[in-house]
Amino acid sequence: MKQTLASSWGFFKRALDRWEQTAAVVPSSRFLSRALTRHAELRRAAVVVELGAGTGNVTRAILREMRADSRLIAIEIDASLAEQVRATLVDPRLEVICGSAADLPQILAAAGVRSPVDVVISGLGMSMLAPAVREAVVDGVRSVLADAGIFVLFGYVHARALVWSRRGGFSRFNVRGFLAERFGSLEREVITLNLPPAAVYTCRRSLRASPPPAAGSAAAG
Ligand SMILES: C[S@@+](CC[C@H](N)C(=O)[O-])C[C@H]1O[C@@H](n2cnc3c(N)ncnc32)[C@H](O)[C@@H]1O
Repeated sequence: MKQTLASSWGFFKRALDRWEQTAAVVPSSRFLSRALTRHAELRRAAVVVELGAGTGNVTRAILREMRADSRLIAIEIDASLAEQVRATLVDPRLEVICGSAADLPQILAAAGVRSPVDVVISGLGMSMLAPAVREAVVDGVRSVLADAGIFVLFGYVHARALVWSRRGGFSRFNVRGFLAERFGSLEREVITLNLPPAAVYTCRRSLRASPPPAAGSAAAG
């Protein structure tokens, strides 16, 4: 409990310091973390990538759900947050890399991870990223994701109406529209028990094939 409070306080101070990068005043709630891992179908994944690990709340939830023989690469741009996750989550399946999610393909290659990867889970504040970084992140995800791979991320609900950044002042960002242009299949679940409330998006390259018809159903036509 003491450690959770200390790490949340550290995250809050980071947010004051680097608002565009941190994009939230507290780490993701357990409700949001669970939704991200539930949609990622982690039991099927051999290689999982997390973007923007922060203080490790989502990382911890991923480790809880993923297989014992799978590998998790967590990428975090802030060196001290990356170090905090390394120190608190000691697990042979986890590798924490300090770098930018915009360089995802290069980071994975340098870490000896052969694409394609099965699951990418993003904790990045998409609405706050510079547009060029946002594009690079999603292009990178699309280039490393397996054909049947899943990209799960969240968008803060208020961002569609209003976001504020030191860089761009007031603006708005429609994450759903942004993703719909880049992925063939998109599902959405709103998680109100998070500060701020967020929507979880599950993206696939293409529409999921419909299950084969049950035996004998063809005649019903
Ligand atoms: C909204 S916070 C979420 C943190 C954590 N995943 C959680 O859910 O509590 C966004 C995190 O992404 C990190 N971040 C921002 N831009 C990044 C980038 N280009 N590459 C990797 N991490 C980035 C920030 O430092 C911050 O830790």
